[in-house]
Amino acid sequence: KEDIITLAIESSCDETSVSVLKNGRTVLSNIIASQIEQHQKFGGVVPEVASRQHIESINTVIKEALEEANVTFEDITHVAATYGPGLVGALLVGLSAAKAIAFARGIPLNGVNHIEGHIYANFIQHKELEPPFICLIVSGGHSHLVYMKDYGEYEVLGKTRDDAAGEAFDKIARVLGLGYPGGPQIDKLATKGNKRAIAFPKAYLERGSYDFSFSGLKSSVLNYLNTEKMKGNPIAIEDVAASFQQAVVEILVEKTIACAMEKSVKQITLAGGVAANSSLRGLLQQEAEKHGLSLKYPSLKLCTDNAAMIGCVGYYDYIRGYRSTLDLNGVPNLKI
Ligand code: KG4
Ligand code: ZN
Repeated sequence: KEDIITLAIESSCDETSVSVLKNGRTVLSNIIASQIEQHQKFGGVVPEVASRQHIESINTVIKEALEEANVTFEDITHVAATYGPGLVGALLVGLSAAKAIAFARGIPLNGVNHIEGHIYANFIQHKELEPPFICLIVSGGHSHLVYMKDYGEYEVLGKTRDDAAGEAFDKIARVLGLGYPGGPQIDKLATKGNKRAIAFPKAYLERGSYDFSFSGLKSSVLNYLNTEKMKGNPIAIEDVAASFQQAVVEILVEKTIACAMEKSVKQITLAGGVAANSSLRGLLQQEAEKHGLSLKYPSLKLCTDNAAMIGCVGYYDYIRGYRSTLDLNGVPNLKI
């Protein structure tokens, strides 16, 4: 049986990434050009700036990915690209490049759902991992609890009703004056703070619901900061960071464990940028052990946006017989 060599492209937000993979799980290269610096001065991702930057980077990143994998366009047998969800202008850059390669080389194309990509980062990291499992996907754009029954078979058990977990981290970091992206900064600062210093409210929603809501928590952090400022009290921002992070992490962990119990699975996985959070990893590991569950998560590089995870989904779709046509469009609000 011949090897399938996938060239995968990710451009849904502020990373231009291209990867070359062998048979879906072996990463030959995974180049990530981050635009964080271009967006930092605006405190968040500016869609127009993102699209333009993707256009400027895409060809160079493709070239680098081929070089690092030690292959040429002739060796590529399959193309995959994110077609949603994400910023439409950003998505179109990567998708158009992927279509052009598929058309020029006469090779198959698979459009990939970015959220599925985050889940599949676990398959690259853990070669023996197979479904079924519960995956907690927490990033800047989404917070989902998904039951992955099999390849391509998902049941969304819960999702956020307002802010994504990463978005909450980014917004709180901004009011604490920590800069963008805020998640890693809060993570770092929290290690110096007391997570029990301030009891921020946790929204569990209705009984049995696996949905999340972070807007109330966000408001109460803002209220706390305003009240303390008005009283003229000094604010220990490391305590605010630690207490806020603890509230987010406790909710995420409790609901994830509850999903695993309900579906009687033994395996939990983490995905998305917030999966890089040390406190989330720590508490989930501890609770998983208590409940006889095993926890797996990707390396830091595979947690945040990258093309290798997209190529992995594309490969599994391809071997199940799926193909995208060249009229595939970007879908900003694509659901899993
Ligand atoms: O998956 P990702 O790279 O992009 C999206 O698809 O959204 O996730 C980026 C998000 C940002 O909100 C960032 O603040 C957050 O992940 N993040 C973290 C950490 N590292 C990144 N949040 C909490 N703790 C971290 N260590
Ligand atoms: Zn993402």
